[in-house]
Amino acid sequence: MSSTANANPEVIFRLTKDFAFPISAYDDLVNQFISELHEGLNYEQKMPMIPTFVYELPTGEEKGVILSLDLGGTNLRVCRTTLFGGGNFDIIHKKWTISDALKKGPGSELFAWIADRIGEFLASDCHGAVHEDDKKYPLGMTFSFPCEQLDINVGKLLNWTKGFHGKDVIGKDVVKVLQDCIDAKNLPITVNALINDTVGTLLATTYKHPGCEVGIIFGTGTNCAYLEDQSQITKIRPDSANFTSHTGHQVINTEWGAFGNVSGALPSNDYDRYLDSRSSQPGKQLYEKVVSGLYISELARIVLHDLAKHGNLFVEGASGTPKTDAELGDLAIKERFDGAMMGGIEADTSADLQAVGNHFQTMYNLKTSQSDRETIKYVCQLISARAARLSSVGIAALIKKRELLSKPHQVIIGIDGSLFNKYPNFRQHLEGALNEIFDAATVTAKISLINAEDGSGVGGAIAAYLACKALGLQA
Ligand code: GLC
Repeated sequence: MSSTANANPEVIFRLTKDFAFPISAYDDLVNQFISELHEGLNYEQKMPMIPTFVYELPTGEEKGVILSLDLGGTNLRVCRTTLFGGGNFDIIHKKWTISDALKKGPGSELFAWIADRIGEFLASDCHGAVHEDDKKYPLGMTFSFPCEQLDINVGKLLNWTKGFHGKDVIGKDVVKVLQDCIDAKNLPITVNALINDTVGTLLATTYKHPGCEVGIIFGTGTNCAYLEDQSQITKIRPDSANFTSHTGHQVINTEWGAFGNVSGALPSNDYDRYLDSRSSQPGKQLYEKVVSGLYISELARIVLHDLAKHGNLFVEGASGTPKTDAELGDLAIKERFDGAMMGGIEADTSADLQAVGNHFQTMYNLKTSQSDRETIKYVCQLISARAARLSSVGIAALIKKRELLSKPHQVIIGIDGSLFNKYPNFRQHLEGALNEIFDAATVTAKISLINAEDGSGVGGAIAAYLACKALGLQA
């Protein structure tokens, strides 16, 4: 933690207490997590634990040129992946930010917009890969929202997460919704695989690192997919339509963001409860709300706003003078403080925290004192460190549930997402917590956390490839 020598000690003391997550709490939380993983495989409660129709992982020798799209929480990407075999691939993509209007508007408009972007990509980036003939090209759809899968290319949207609202699509098969939009534009594309981004991360990591059985996202949202023994998935009846069991395994999309929704097991303070009550899904995705980028930056904004309203920030010497919302400008508005900014604040290691001051001056027109800047950075550190430590709980639970440490080989876990890839010290805090849950020697010797390279884009392509292979088609 950085210096708080100039900050108000009472404020620092209270915040430290509010966001504490003591080592002694790990074991109970890991055990609770394991029991929610088990329950989700049995009856559809608590954690969704969605069976996907992915029964096998790639060998790394798959070859071909395949299209995919990746709809995450922040961006849409349309990608063309070339799988070379030998674990090597190349990917080109185009990326668009999803506007607030699209996120909050009708789903039909979002999907029509996506089809337009696919058309744009085909026209500009697919010469030589897509020809003007009658052939329809397979496309893997990586869709980072909870869907009940009914086949590899059929998935009903259960609910939106991460601030998306399009109610008209809930309950519908998102592949069909997209395919209809694609057909309406006469694009030569068949969407033949639907996967979650965590499944994509798993497939992409396994392509390069055979033996990987777990894929995780720590980004705008958080979630995990892993390879499970079919005998453990007791909620699937052997006679269920479309299920096969030739491998004895199946990838499960845990949707672990829902951990703690029912059990109330997660640490929670007044700020957490306030954030939840003002979210688009109160009472839902509680693990995601303490772990992922979308929510932890909002949590930091709520804390800073509260401190300012109580005269503990931006007071220029007149400590105790409360700031009004009008004076605080955008800092008083929901989600006007994002993960990139929060990470930027933590990246400022100078003694006078000039970069922190500049952020607040430029973004909110607020002047900061040394005390303010130290408090702001400390708030960000407290919240992100708690998030990273709580992230380790999910990983530890999965390792224990699958008894991965007792297997002879290395435990390879593919991880993607901006928090893990870019956020200062997130990975270090997460690994530090794993060292406390297991022990440092075991973690170093047995567990490899691999930075998944573009998991969602490449994973979508591999899913489309595997779906073609299963049907005896060439990708
Ligand atoms: C949210 C979504 C989930 C996705 C995760 C990471 O939790 O519900 O499907 O995998 O975000 O993007």
